[in-house]
Amino acid sequence: MNRRSLLKWTSRIIGWTCALVVAIPGVSFITAPLRRRSSSGAITQRVAKLKNLRVGEPTQVAITGSRQDAWVHYDEEVVGRAWIVRETDDAVAPEATRVKAFSSVCPHLGCAVQFNAERGFNCPCHKAFFELTGQPVPDAQLGYKNPTPRQLDDLECQIVEDVESGEWWVEVKYQKFEYGLTTKVPRA
Ligand code: FES
Repeated sequence: MNRRSLLKWTSRIIGWTCALVVAIPGVSFITAPLRRRSSSGAITQRVAKLKNLRVGEPTQVAITGSRQDAWVHYDEEVVGRAWIVRETDDAVAPEATRVKAFSSVCPHLGCAVQFNAERGFNCPCHKAFFELTGQPVPDAQLGYKNPTPRQLDDLECQIVEDVESGEWWVEVKYQKFEYGLTTKVPRA
């Protein structure tokens, strides 16, 4: 090998080495978020003041929290929604008030479940209907097969008192569940 070839090969090897030194951490940095979990777990949150809820009139509430997508961390934003149904009125002591909470995610294929006085809980995507209890409306009543594989996903909730203001709040443990299954399975 003459001197010119030796110099050529030496400079090539130095160039490849430099490219690798830059590329490996770069590729690792870019792909690292894809290896992380993309959603947070359960979120426990006060979502509504008890005095603002009416018996039999579901109220939709937003759940806020931090979120991580492929490359960006979002601090506080809406990460889900829930329906709150108050079952007992002011004749019952606040701490004994019965309240139910449901995820607004349709158990069929994940669309957003809506509510209105005429139609009750309904999903506009494939026309699933649910009672105020979260149970599917029977096929015979609908006149077709209700597409939902299970009832609305109920969420743990409780009535808590704010020690400073003395106000009563509904506190919900929000969680996402797999849809399309007959049983309620938390999403990983
Ligand atoms: S996603 Fe709700 S009925 Fe299909």
